[in-house]
Amino acid sequence: MCGIVGYVGEEQATPILLEGLEKLEYRGYDSAGVAIYDGKKLEVAKAKGRLKILKDMLHGGSDLKGTIGIGHTRWATHGKPSDINSHPQTSVSGKFAVVHNGIIENYLSLKQYLMRRGVAFVSETDTEVVAQLLEYYYKGDILEAIIRVISKVEGSYALGIICEDSPNELYAVRKDSPLIVGLGQGENFIASDIPAILNKTRDICRLNDNEIVVLTRSGITVYNTDKEEISKEPEHINWDISAAEKGGYEHFMAKEIMEQPKAVRDTISPRIKDGRIVLDDITLTPEQIKEFRRIFIVACGSAYHVGVVAKYILEKMTHIPVEVDVASEFRYRDPIIDEKVLVLVISQSGETADTLAALREAKRRGARVLSIVNVVGSSIANESDDVIYTWAGPEIAVATTKAYSTQLAVAYLIAIYMAEALGTITPEEYQEYIQELETLPDKIEKILENKQDIQYFASRNFNAKDIFFIGRNLDYAMSMEGSLKLKEISYIHSDAYAAGELKHGTISLVEDGTLVVALATQQKLFDKMMSNVREVKARGALVLGLTVEENKQIEQEVDFVFYVPKTCDIMLPSLAVIPLQLFAYYVASMKGCDIDKPRNLAKSVTVE
Ligand code: F6R
Repeated sequence: MCGIVGYVGEEQATPILLEGLEKLEYRGYDSAGVAIYDGKKLEVAKAKGRLKILKDMLHGGSDLKGTIGIGHTRWATHGKPSDINSHPQTSVSGKFAVVHNGIIENYLSLKQYLMRRGVAFVSETDTEVVAQLLEYYYKGDILEAIIRVISKVEGSYALGIICEDSPNELYAVRKDSPLIVGLGQGENFIASDIPAILNKTRDICRLNDNEIVVLTRSGITVYNTDKEEISKEPEHINWDISAAEKGGYEHFMAKEIMEQPKAVRDTISPRIKDGRIVLDDITLTPEQIKEFRRIFIVACGSAYHVGVVAKYILEKMTHIPVEVDVASEFRYRDPIIDEKVLVLVISQSGETADTLAALREAKRRGARVLSIVNVVGSSIANESDDVIYTWAGPEIAVATTKAYSTQLAVAYLIAIYMAEALGTITPEEYQEYIQELETLPDKIEKILENKQDIQYFASRNFNAKDIFFIGRNLDYAMSMEGSLKLKEISYIHSDAYAAGELKHGTISLVEDGTLVVALATQQKLFDKMMSNVREVKARGALVLGLTVEENKQIEQEVDFVFYVPKTCDIMLPSLAVIPLQLFAYYVASMKGCDIDKPRNLAKSVTVE
């Protein structure tokens, strides 16, 4: 995710900002930049690519002199990675410079508003809107202008702001995106993350939503949106740098599991406006949607498992037949494809070699390609006819969690959107699905609050030799993901089976003490699943049951149960996956595995 550092003090700001940004490099980014007040005006330097490019450009920082400045590493969201789209973004006269983490959801309407009033834009970013609005509302009082701007923007933001007219003051404000203030002697800092400033100060204040801080070299003042001063208790940080990078978690995977409510919210909410799904990102028209006779989904690994869930959902909602393929198989199997086929490509990295080759094959055969991608400007995104980005932010742990959840969220958006265009759901169903979709982030949060139950179960079973995951329909799709997650990070042998298929062979492996994870979230299949649970229990299996809160009768059938909140059946995978991720994580952690970098695996598989 993007990184922010800001400095005001007596030393040269540029080297401090570059050093702070270096400490945030682990989070992933595609461009970097700084803005400095040089005694006369704001000077901006920014470059696409590694921070080293910017550093070399500025000769380590010595080329840009000044004792106040802001710096940023950008992970592209609105607009491709490029010099122009990098932050800081400036206002039309260059008076204001802004760095921003988060997403301004209504940036397009604000941009159009300003353009109608003659404001010229240079970038594709949502952030430039903030810089331009600041100048537009500025009448000599920066604090006042910031308050006006935040009353207009919707979405999430952490903002660092400097203004030529007030060269000794650094401003910052946040909403739903982290920002801290670092307190030094004769110098003060802002940062999106503690590691950026940990070698400068260990005393910090955390900003709450809509608190605005004004920093000078001698102190800080925090205001609310009524311009009233707020007092803040500083906090002393005792963590070492590696713990700080992980936000206090032991592993990136744990951090990323916990980030899922926000990641899913960030992915869904900008695309639902006034109770309707608005996919500004794509050019597919309802008429074109009506022409599709078949949908193919291609992806690898966990992204493929999202595809398996998406098949059920798309077929149920759109009544269009859907085939799901592992990309490495699809590319060599002569799929029957023409221009009446939509190919849905799913990839976190956007660079997976097999998925990219499958996309090219689909296009060669005349299909229209819609992709779901996390990395903006990646090869898969660039080569697709349309792309819907997941707003998960960079995923560092090799085992995917938040990318999976956001891909699934986009699959729901696409299915509901297409179904409405096709008239295969009623207006009432459309509203109901959207309402349920909007509740998912809170429900995921609720599951995460009970994570110690899964931790307890993992503590009793982390020595298991084989673990089977079983389920039917959507629960079978989830079983596949649960099993993959477990084996890739804990090295325990595990397999997923359609529960009804067990008795056709695999049940011979079940013996006294074999651990079986039984997913039974789908209401219409609950009784059938209980029959399968009885089959494995009769052979001595120990069963963890996973179901929705209302199915309390499961307690008579299984040894341990974990409940997820109720939602409509098709959205239960978004909830069921969370305990499965937690289970894999805790088992691997108790076994002492290298969770973030499991053996033999790479984050992005760019070879066939
Ligand atoms: C498993 C995992 C992998 C990826 C797969 C596809 O936890 O992360 O199975 O899902 O390698 O990667 P992307 O989504 O980058 O195409």
